[in-house]
Amino acid sequence: MKGIILAGGKGTRLYPMTKAISKQLLPIYDKPLVYYPLSVLLLADIREILIISSPDAIGLYEELLGDGSQLGVQFQYAVQDQPRGLADAFILGADFIGDDSVCLVLGDNVFYGQQLTDTLKTARENNVGATVFGYPVRDPSAFGVVEFDDQRNVISIEEKPEHPKSSYAVPGVYFYDNEVIEIAKNVKPSARGEIEITAVNNEYLRRGKLRVVLMGRGMAWLDTGTPDGLLSAAEYVSTIQKRQGFYISCIEEIAWRRGFITTEEFREIGESLKMTDYGQYILELCKGERK
Ligand code: G1P
Repeated sequence: MKGIILAGGKGTRLYPMTKAISKQLLPIYDKPLVYYPLSVLLLADIREILIISSPDAIGLYEELLGDGSQLGVQFQYAVQDQPRGLADAFILGADFIGDDSVCLVLGDNVFYGQQLTDTLKTARENNVGATVFGYPVRDPSAFGVVEFDDQRNVISIEEKPEHPKSSYAVPGVYFYDNEVIEIAKNVKPSARGEIEITAVNNEYLRRGKLRVVLMGRGMAWLDTGTPDGLLSAAEYVSTIQKRQGFYISCIEEIAWRRGFITTEEFREIGESLKMTDYGQYILELCKGERK
């Protein structure tokens, strides 16, 4: 399975913060926002990853993440010259996906929770067609929203509905079979002129191949779309990390624990960052001081 991180968009809702910098490079406490969705792909055991961003920003992602060899994975990069919509990821990424299946994660989505790895693993292994998630939020109107019938069968997903038909928003992590490329190519632009991921999901639903897995309330899916959302996410990460002594979305730790890199390679990364708590954390893990 391939992975795609879509880190495009103009981030206008966060102006002036994002006027000169790509939103997904903003910090969430001690690491760039894009580390969080990247950790989702690594936890799903996906090691071939395409990062898509705007022409101005793509070089910054390459500078930050390199070719992936330091994490024992492979990164490729693609430019999206206009924000044409999320489904564009599969058109831009068609050659990269090849005959494979794919997991798309949005570059601004933060997930954390006990069940996350299992949830991703199960979704990956059981996917037939498309698997997306439903997550309860107080105000779902800014998201794709799942509509259920009385038997809890999914009957539609609506994009940013004024009057949401449930409280279940669809978070930005999606698993698809290879048909997603063909489906994305045939999606008609919405009223806001974008080829919506929701239209892709509804096409899978029409074909009888959409699974919506509900995430429980023990999972954290955090909003990073507003200044307050960014601040709350940063406070959340800081609170958990200080309390537990374990870091959230330390991509190097995940690569090491999964065996993508050796302890020696992991230690070298820690050494290169040893002037920071982040680097010290890695060095402590190497010494076995945190189990
Ligand atoms: C996008 C999708 C929406 C989804 C959300 C998750 O919204 O269109 O269906 O619920 O991501 O973050 P956007 O980022 O365009 O507001």
